[in-house]
Amino acid sequence: MIKLIPVISSQDIRNRVEEIAAQISIDYMDKDLVLVGILKGSFIFLSDLTRAITIDHAIDLVGTSSYIGTDTTGIIEFTKKLDIDISGRHILLIEDIVDTGNTLAALIQYFISLHPASIKICTLIDKKERRELTVTVDYACFTIEKGFIVGYGLDYNEKYRNLPAIFDLKFEDTSTA
Ligand code: IMP
Ligand code: MG
Repeated sequence: MIKLIPVISSQDIRNRVEEIAAQISIDYMDKDLVLVGILKGSFIFLSDLTRAITIDHAIDLVGTSSYIGTDTTGIIEFTKKLDIDISGRHILLIEDIVDTGNTLAALIQYFISLHPASIKICTLIDKKERRELTVTVDYACFTIEKGFIVGYGLDYNEKYRNLPAIFDLKFEDTSTA
């Protein structure tokens, strides 16, 4: 049986998203900023973040299904590529959660090949336990050590993305034998 244990409330998420958005608005003042959301997990975070950022910016989305290889030269398979030209622009990648870092490391290689002015990373959750690659997270709303979490865009087998807060997902053994 699956049990959901509350870990971050919707009010705490709201407060942190506002703080991060204020910081981004200062850091990118007078810069040509493009938020690039990574599908699907970032969609709720992105929609709250973009509305809380007070400077002009563009938005695009990328979708990845898998990458071949686990190192930074891994080839990414895209389910959706960028629509807009990012050359010479300041890119802020928006992730739901950074875990091993493999997805981001491979994505960054792809973005570098498109010659943006800069690339930085903003994640809702920075999960440290399984990090395999050195990925510099520039903005993190929350840091957790371990566990599998769901809600606010994060899923388990495509479920729970709609939950307004963040929960730790635990499997309970209910067998009596
Ligand atoms: P990684 O950093 O390449 O290992 O993968 C990060 C991706 O794995 C995230 O974008 C999520 O889609 C998924 N993921 C990792 N940890 C969790 C979790 O705790 N809950 C839900 N999805 C997770
Ligand atoms: Mg993801």
